[in-house]
Amino acid sequence: MTWQAAWEEGRTPWDAGKSAPVLRSLVEAGSLPQGRAFVPGAGSGYDVLTLAGPERSVVGLDLAPVAKARFDALAQTHPHREQVEFVVEDAFAYAPQTPFDLVWDYTFLCALPAELRPQWAAMMDRLLHPSRGELAALIFPVVPGADPADGPPYPMTPELVTELVAPFLQPVSIVPVETSNPGREGKEWLGRFKRRP
Ligand SMILES: C[S@@+](CC[C@H](N)C(=O)[O-])C[C@H]1O[C@@H](n2cnc3c(N)ncnc32)[C@H](O)[C@@H]1O
Repeated sequence: MTWQAAWEEGRTPWDAGKSAPVLRSLVEAGSLPQGRAFVPGAGSGYDVLTLAGPERSVVGLDLAPVAKARFDALAQTHPHREQVEFVVEDAFAYAPQTPFDLVWDYTFLCALPAELRPQWAAMMDRLLHPSRGELAALIFPVVPGADPADGPPYPMTPELVTELVAPFLQPVSIVPVETSNPGREGKEWLGRFKRRP
């Protein structure tokens, strides 16, 4: 089953219908970088819309045209719709002109087979601003003892993500998340990573 087929057949069990509570809290607290943000594997794009604001424009990307159609319908009435863009493309081929101040990864890395993880890391390095870029990753599903080959979603750990980006990013904070959407409680960690000096 390809991602495209899953979208076309309406088989999207990952779609929570809204952003994770922790992202909404981060945005309300104003603790994420402003400027330009990128959401790879954005799906319906809830997180793109949650992140968008007067001081932050957001590019969401997904390879599925159906995901963009969902997003377009949601974005129509959003107060900051002028601040969002949705690209339909393979994330690994995406080559924007300008780097991003923030990349938000939620359920994109865990959707990829393990052999693509080094490419995911290279993409983070390529897309993040060379000095001020930040990666904020909602690391999911963190399930101790899970079979690493069982996915998607493939099991994640804070250590795995830290190691993938270690050559160019250092962790600023990695904490378990207290409030999650139903079914994801206790399986989410928030990792924030900044450029190494
Ligand atoms: C598990 S879903 C998560 C969607 C969204 N982040 C959410 O939380 O609802 C993974 C998404 O990544 C997209 N995807 C997978 N591989 C991709 C790729 N190489 N480039 C772009 N999108 C991709 C899929 O189409 C799917 O929408």
